[in-house]
Amino acid sequence: MTKIKGSTVLITGGAAGIGRLMGSMCLHDGAKQLIIWDINKEKLEETTRELRALHFIVHPWLVDVADVSQVVEIAGKVKNEVGEVDILINNAGIITGNKDFKDFTHAEVDKIMAVNSNALMHVTLEFLPGMIRKGSGHIVNISSAAGMLSNPMMSVYCASKWAVSGWSESMRIELEASRSGVHVTTVNPSYIDTGMFAGVKVNPVMPLLKPEILAARVVRAIQGNRLFVRSPFMVKLVPFTKGIMPVRWFDLIVGRWLGVYGSMKGFRGHEKGKNS
Ligand SMILES: NC(=O)c1ccc[n+]([C@@H]2O[C@H](COP(=O)([O-])OP(=O)(O)OC[C@H]3O[C@@H](n4cnc5c(N)ncnc54)[C@H](O)[C@@H]3O)[C@@H](O)[C@H]2O)c1
Repeated sequence: MTKIKGSTVLITGGAAGIGRLMGSMCLHDGAKQLIIWDINKEKLEETTRELRALHFIVHPWLVDVADVSQVVEIAGKVKNEVGEVDILINNAGIITGNKDFKDFTHAEVDKIMAVNSNALMHVTLEFLPGMIRKGSGHIVNISSAAGMLSNPMMSVYCASKWAVSGWSESMRIELEASRSGVHVTTVNPSYIDTGMFAGVKVNPVMPLLKPEILAARVVRAIQGNRLFVRSPFMVKLVPFTKGIMPVRWFDLIVGRWLGVYGSMKGFRGHEKGKNS
């Protein structure tokens, strides 16, 4: 069991969406202090103000997790000024447009991979050695159902989230094999009602998840050292279904009949200026 009470928690992208909720829940569950890394100054200040008004200890840092030099510099400051991190939640993520792969630019590909995949590894490299030295810690990596499924009009986002799933699980196996005492949870949710995927088409089998419920599941998964959070239930069935079904059947039943492959058609994303 990972104890949240008395712990130091760091959440990337913790100024908004599920990151903000998970941070607040950890503090309400007794975390000693919360470190928030985010690129959105306004949201970072707002979230910090709100949590400090409840007498919680919050350390906000304006960081672009896609910039390795910033990650290394600010991680050094965190270790010197706040101390080692007990629970790291790699949550910051972005999505660019609803378009076919042929319409992406090189810059867009690099940006999505840098924020959604590479950043998680660079941030973890900064805090994992401290956890291994202490013989305890918990790392949560927010992937997506798109890290287990293929989906048109979000090919680069899928690529970035498949990368997270593969890396996170590989690291989990290594850390277990070496009896490090460090736990890893990989999170694969379907669409969540945070505005990041505003406009997407959902259905009763793949409903829009409530952010509060998903965030609470992740916090419980940390406490219970769960390997995965896969939500809604349909996401748990993906590996089995893909394993037994011929691809063309999967395309037809899951892709077309359940509407997964058409889900991005109405995508608008965050209202401009509301989030980064
Ligand atoms: N919303 C969904 O439907 C959904 C579904 C599956 C997985 N996810 C994943 O969950 C995570 C959180 O999603 P959300 O819906 O809460 O998103 P959100 O857009 O509401 O919040 C993301 C936060 O990350 C921050 N951020 C973005 N780029 C950053 C950068 N370069 N450096 C530092 N911070 C940065 C943003 O400012 C924001 O505060 C993401 O990794 C996302 O891919 C979301």
